Amino acid sequence: MSQIILAIETSCDETAVSILKDGKELIVNSVDTQIEKHKQFGGVYPELACRLHLENISKVLSYSLSSSSLSLNDITHVAVTCGPGLPGALQIGIMAAKTISSYLNVPLIPVHHLAGHIYANEFVKDFSYPLLALIASGGNSDIVYLDRELHFEVLGETLDDAIGESFDKVARLLSLPYPGGVMIDKLTKGRDDIELIDLPKVSVEGYNLSFSGLKSHISRMIEKDKEEKKLDEKRILSYAKSVEINFVDQLLDKLYSAYLNYHPKMIVVGGGVSANSYLRKKIKELFDCENVEVIVPPLWCTTDNAAMIAKVASRMIDKNMSFNRDFSSKPSFPLSGLNED
Ligand code: KG4
Repeated sequence: MSQIILAIETSCDETAVSILKDGKELIVNSVDTQIEKHKQFGGVYPELACRLHLENISKVLSYSLSSSSLSLNDITHVAVTCGPGLPGALQIGIMAAKTISSYLNVPLIPVHHLAGHIYANEFVKDFSYPLLALIASGGNSDIVYLDRELHFEVLGETLDDAIGESFDKVARLLSLPYPGGVMIDKLTKGRDDIELIDLPKVSVEGYNLSFSGLKSHISRMIEKDKEEKKLDEKRILSYAKSVEINFVDQLLDKLYSAYLNYHPKMIVVGGGVSANSYLRKKIKELFDCENVEVIVPPLWCTTDNAAMIAKVASRMIDKNMSFNRDFSSKPSFPLSGLNED
């Protein structure tokens, strides 16, 4: 009998539903993004995110089912993001998933959002272990080691802000629209002619990362430029390119040290910032002559989606993990919380 997973993701500002057959065949991948609605607030406004999930979840669910040739009764498993994420937003997805799985009397699988960002890369290629994963998103910046399937060791994480939110904050200071990371990429992509601004290199112990000190330093520089009326278009471009290089290089320096110590067979990247053109190019160049395979996710898979949640769920089912419908949202959920030992 086929395994048909209906997956739901509502951890932040995307209401997403996917249907995955036998762990490989993505039958439907619907994503309703709220980005336009949050633009006026310069970031995700949690109250609004919850209201929009509530408004949209049944629409996205019925669209997903009607655009497949499946009926509800074909679903063999339901999966849902249980954390980390916005508490109210997670609850809405979980409520919908619980209702469907109880009605159909099929197992309900709680999935870690960041495991989803890592396993999104299995839409490109099946994993070889040991594996190193770099997660770079709006809320997270982590370097994770997997010695085997679904076994996570977080080697390093940001001590303060995540790379995505740091891009967004710097972009806001430059009066660029939300989401700032996307705009920074748009402005700098393929431009080798931009004059760079000298920014300090951050030094943090181990594989941890830090962006807030640098962000404050840059914000003081921008304020000074504004006072001196020096913040013209050319200078904005210079900030955008210099910040992009500085932030991404910090991630990649740490990833490279982890590679040298852990000898992975594969390196994967995930999260919204993995769409960044400079990061995608630089990571390939960095490991080009090394004995490791580097996978970057397809662009459709870098933003939040439910296909990646279904992918993790499928791996969990294949491992014969046991599931209990009696769980709640876990807004702060460590990745190692998924490990069985
Ligand atoms: O993973 P994601 O969709 O949300 C979280 O779950 O955190 O990531 C959103 C973040 C935003 O901060 C956005 O500015 C950033 O990813 N982002 C990018 C790019 N696309 C999205 N940053 C740099 N370059 C991009 N192309």
